[in-house]
Amino acid sequence: MKILVIGSGGREHALVWKIRQSARVTKIYCSPGNPGIAELAECLPMTATACEGLRDFALKEHIALTIVGPEQPLADGIVDMFEASGLNIFGPSRNAAQLEWSKAFAKEFMGEFNIPTAAHRSFSKEEMEAAKSYVISSALPLVLKADGLAAGKGVVVCATHEQALNTLSEMIGKRGFGIAGERIVIEEFLDGEEASVFAICDGEDFVTLAPAQDHKRIFDGDRGKNTGGMGAYAPTPIVTPDLMQEVERQIIVPTLRGMKQMNRPYKGCLYIGLMITASGPKVVEYNCRFGDPEAQVVLPLYGGDIVELFEAACTKNIAAVKATEAQASNFAVCVVLASMGYPDEYPTGIEIDGLDGLKKFDTVIAFHAGTKMQKGRLATAGGRVFGITSRDANLARAIDTAYRAVGEISFAGMQFRRDIGRKAFVH
Ligand code: AMP
Ligand code: GLY
Repeated sequence: MKILVIGSGGREHALVWKIRQSARVTKIYCSPGNPGIAELAECLPMTATACEGLRDFALKEHIALTIVGPEQPLADGIVDMFEASGLNIFGPSRNAAQLEWSKAFAKEFMGEFNIPTAAHRSFSKEEMEAAKSYVISSALPLVLKADGLAAGKGVVVCATHEQALNTLSEMIGKRGFGIAGERIVIEEFLDGEEASVFAICDGEDFVTLAPAQDHKRIFDGDRGKNTGGMGAYAPTPIVTPDLMQEVERQIIVPTLRGMKQMNRPYKGCLYIGLMITASGPKVVEYNCRFGDPEAQVVLPLYGGDIVELFEAACTKNIAAVKATEAQASNFAVCVVLASMGYPDEYPTGIEIDGLDGLKKFDTVIAFHAGTKMQKGRLATAGGRVFGITSRDANLARAIDTAYRAVGEISFAGMQFRRDIGRKAFVH
């Protein structure tokens, strides 16, 4: 069968890498892809949001299954469009993806179906005076969120009332937040450790993958600005089997039931951003896709045929896969190599050296995130450049190998965290 993967980052490289291992696949296309993906799949020149062009291609080439990497095409309704043409596509409809593209919708939904999350209120542009009073009367710290997709820049944790008031007027007033700032969610600060749980859903039933932990801040020790994610590892010991059961019972099951009840059955990867608090797991956010960099550790650990799993999700047949679900016992660690300046402005087109040196590590995969070919040489093309992933039965050894592999690669201004995976040993 022929497969199409949509997207161009480390997450999509991991998807293509895993899909290649399925015996059922004869050909993989990826649009737009990147130089790492180009070694495994045929890359197409269309961007991830060129929904009509992608659908026409899928029809013409008889693509048996399309997998959507990023959130924007899902929010644009690519799944609805493909399905209207009779095409199989792994991902939620636009209405189901609203769990990610509107934080206000997600909060309301969780309220209605009793899903544990931070206490909150949401305000429209016209309700700014009420929002200000709410801020002043709330305990600190306080979390402000712009409603729509804001590429990770829509959340501010405020330590003082003054900062919260300033952030409020910035979010509503500034064009930088775009449509994302039309509504504001103000919520209670949750104290605890974060984890990412991924459920592959068919609208009713689901399978969970290895629970992961991302490292969102730019600097070691979780200091500095929030990024898209500087590294991940899985499975994380903070999500014990008991806790996973609690997450399934209190969060995943009622989410799928609620979405079905609202006539928005959720099919695809449901990413639960969790805070493990003293009073149990709470939802920080829903995402309607795989995490990046979490995909780079979670997908290599999956023991079964990932194409069968995605197909089962599209055909309401997850229960059949569940019975044969393989539990991988290994650990995986991914260290992200980023450009100088990331998560703010960064240069591109910087030449990369040493990638060939990774060939001597047979447990390491270099997932390309932001690379391009430039005058016949590999160069940087994004904020996050690589996700260097290592797998091992032992987590400490997996971390050690990942960093030895990182030591082979160099480009001017390369930055990375030196403490990826260390959180696992705190427990
Ligand atoms: P989000 O885009 O909603 O995932 O928020 C981005 C990051 O902000 C999260 O990964 C958390 O680190 C932090 N965050 C968001 N909401 C809260 C909250 N209620 N309490 C504490 N931290 C939060
Ligand atoms: N790693 C965080 C995300 O994908 O949203």
